[in-house]
Amino acid sequence: MIKVAVMGYGTVGSGVVEVLDINRNSIAKRAGDEIVVKYVLDLRDFPGEPIQEKIVHDYQTIENDPEVQIVVETMGGVEPAYTFVKAMLNAGKHVTTSNKALVAAKGAELIALAKEKNVNFMFEASVGGGIPIIRPLNSSLTADEIEEITGIVNGTTNYMMTKMSEEGSEFDDVLKDAQAKGYAEKDPTADIEGYDACRKIAILTSLVCGQQVDFEDIHTEGITKISATDIKYAKAMGRAIKLLASSKKVDEGYVAMVAPFLLPQTHPLYSVNGVFNAIFVHGNVLGDAMFYGSGAGKLPTASAVVSDVVDMAKHLDVNIALEWSSKKLELVDYKNLKNRYFVRTTADKAAVEKAFGSVEYVVAEGVSGEIGFVTESMSEADYEKRVASLGDVLQMIRVA
Ligand code: HSE
Repeated sequence: MIKVAVMGYGTVGSGVVEVLDINRNSIAKRAGDEIVVKYVLDLRDFPGEPIQEKIVHDYQTIENDPEVQIVVETMGGVEPAYTFVKAMLNAGKHVTTSNKALVAAKGAELIALAKEKNVNFMFEASVGGGIPIIRPLNSSLTADEIEEITGIVNGTTNYMMTKMSEEGSEFDDVLKDAQAKGYAEKDPTADIEGYDACRKIAILTSLVCGQQVDFEDIHTEGITKISATDIKYAKAMGRAIKLLASSKKVDEGYVAMVAPFLLPQTHPLYSVNGVFNAIFVHGNVLGDAMFYGSGAGKLPTASAVVSDVVDMAKHLDVNIALEWSSKKLELVDYKNLKNRYFVRTTADKAAVEKAFGSVEYVVAEGVSGEIGFVTESMSEADYEKRVASLGDVLQMIRVA
């Protein structure tokens, strides 16, 4: 019997306990032993609920119990999760986490500590919820140089973009709807400003290049400025607006960014709608691969956490090597990236053509008093220079 502790009995933590119960027999077969939850760490009590007898309030109860071999961290945030996880690894326990903030900030250090202690630190659930992406990158796509990872990795914003596109609604109304349905937090900042997606692409890029990518270095734009008028233009172009998190290998290194993009119907991520996530990977020998599925939510995320528990149960005496050193990777400046840009302006065509030369005009039904156009491909730096000379810009969205 393998004893497990769960730190944080919120949505994902309670989902982990539920999954371990629902699939007890098949999980035991796959893990080679029965997995039993001995403790649940939470600030709260749950009187009258079966979980109450397992509740502890002091993480040291878990740290000091040699019977606990595997610890699940589903508390979220960097502290106190970092202190607790470090203590568990130092005590020779395996740890899995769903916490992208912790992994993005401290991943390299915790991986190194796990190696030193001959245990494992895993984080399949930290990106893409229930979609397997960390293990495939680490174990399956090892023959390749990964040249691109581009994902829809935030379910909240994808739900909102889908709803705006389907109903022509404004951002604020869709946000209220997402909050009412439980898809957006009361404080939605991390999702709508792209911070959540930024941490996720930092984790994926770190795994791909084997070095520390600091999320603070990734240029990040959210979806807060997307309006119903933008959606009208997108429809006129036969495109969909999606928040993409992307990293690419270029001649000088790696470049990463998070921003809304206008995707054509032929793009592999165009049809990823609602709360679903998908991650497109391009390898130099593999070519293209796509990982699609439930990117958030209680049971899908718990499914990924429990897959780590099973993997760790099968490797109780083995550290599975993970390439992610603490050596910082300096990203290539995103301003070198080349894109086409969709721009809305109140300037006239003569001013547009003076600034950008040849452009493609877009007419959206029911929109007046402005001009919409798509530029030719140019670097971000070049775009910034040209747009400064135009002035009067209402919106810019990159065109994929
Ligand atoms: N808020 C996140 C999302 C949860 O919407 O994708 C999963 O990380």
